[in-house]
Amino acid sequence: MLQAAEGKRLYIQEVSVRDGFQIEPVFVPTADKIALIDRLSRSGLAKIEVTSFSSPKAIPALADAAEVMAGIQRMPGVEYAALVPNAKGGERALACQVDELNIVMSASESHNRANLRMSREQSLAQFADIVALARGRSEVNASLSTAFGCPFEGEVGQAEVLRLVERIAGLGIRRLTLCDTTGMAHPAQVQQLCAAVIARHPQIMLTAHFHDTRGMGLANVLAALEAGVDRFDASLGGLGGCPFAPGASGNVCTEDMVHMLQAMGYATGVDLAGLIACSRTLPGLVGHDVPGQVAKAGPSSRRYPLPEGAGQPRLAGAAPACGGAAA
Ligand code: COA
Ligand code: ZN
Repeated sequence: MLQAAEGKRLYIQEVSVRDGFQIEPVFVPTADKIALIDRLSRSGLAKIEVTSFSSPKAIPALADAAEVMAGIQRMPGVEYAALVPNAKGGERALACQVDELNIVMSASESHNRANLRMSREQSLAQFADIVALARGRSEVNASLSTAFGCPFEGEVGQAEVLRLVERIAGLGIRRLTLCDTTGMAHPAQVQQLCAAVIARHPQIMLTAHFHDTRGMGLANVLAALEAGVDRFDASLGGLGGCPFAPGASGNVCTEDMVHMLQAMGYATGVDLAGLIACSRTLPGLVGHDVPGQVAKAGPSSRRYPLPEGAGQPRLAGAAPACGGAAA
């Protein structure tokens, strides 16, 4: 049963400039990326995933990773992370002084091979190398893709996910993200897996990362909240998706999620109006409409003036104001 939040602090982590832009067919100019990140930095987000140090052949949209990292203004209190697919990416990211290396592998073997061109064992070996490289220089977060289902293999069992979490924790990694890469998770599954990870690894800083591919994104956020998760990835405008996962589409939309959480009484630290203003610049950057809803409708606190005459009681026998029979 959902309780009133009573100001509980949640941490909102923005991924649009990485998970969002990586799947866009247009290359968003470097200066525009930097301007957007600087604006997002002023909106109270806990973390921004700035870019990814993937192969520019694999992800051409983020080929300017080093330039973007060098160009942004770092706001105290905001963590600047970057996605890292392999040891070479780790070295490139460390050279740019990222606050956090977000190293990634998949819970399913097939998606790991499609996305990273290596086995899960090879990914775990590279994780160990990157942890050693990063010691004293950067935080390390491990993202587990396809943790709630794989577009190639279907169901990914909870026991298998917990086995991999155990391996990751065994490398000394204390930050973990469970990713629903193609929106296959449902709330009961999310509640169970998140609760199981928290029970086994209370020392781990756990993030939930949902895609809204099948309309379950915000429901999954609530299920993770109920399990005790307090960190959420989300993407401005609802952009996002892995180019190496068939059928992938946008993340949970940041401003929609913040709007919901604030309405429930959670403290997000985020300036919703500022976020909505950022979101409204996105169609100009990516060249198409974006899925987010609150940027279109405005927050639920929005009030409209009554149409002229609508506040007056109707005279008996007069036609109904909206036409047709009263419902
Ligand atoms: N950054 C830049 N270049 C990289 C790199 C990295 N992180 N990793 C490898 N390369 C380069 C190599 O130097 C090599 O270059 P060359 O052709 O000039 O010699 C080339 O890429 C191939 O190297 P190889 O180790 O064989 O990599 P690969 O072709 O098997 O690709 C990945 C492996 C992981 C680098 C690549 O598949 C990748 O970046 N995938 C993207 C993952 C991603 O971001 N997915 C979306 C988010 S989940
Ligand atoms: Zn994602």
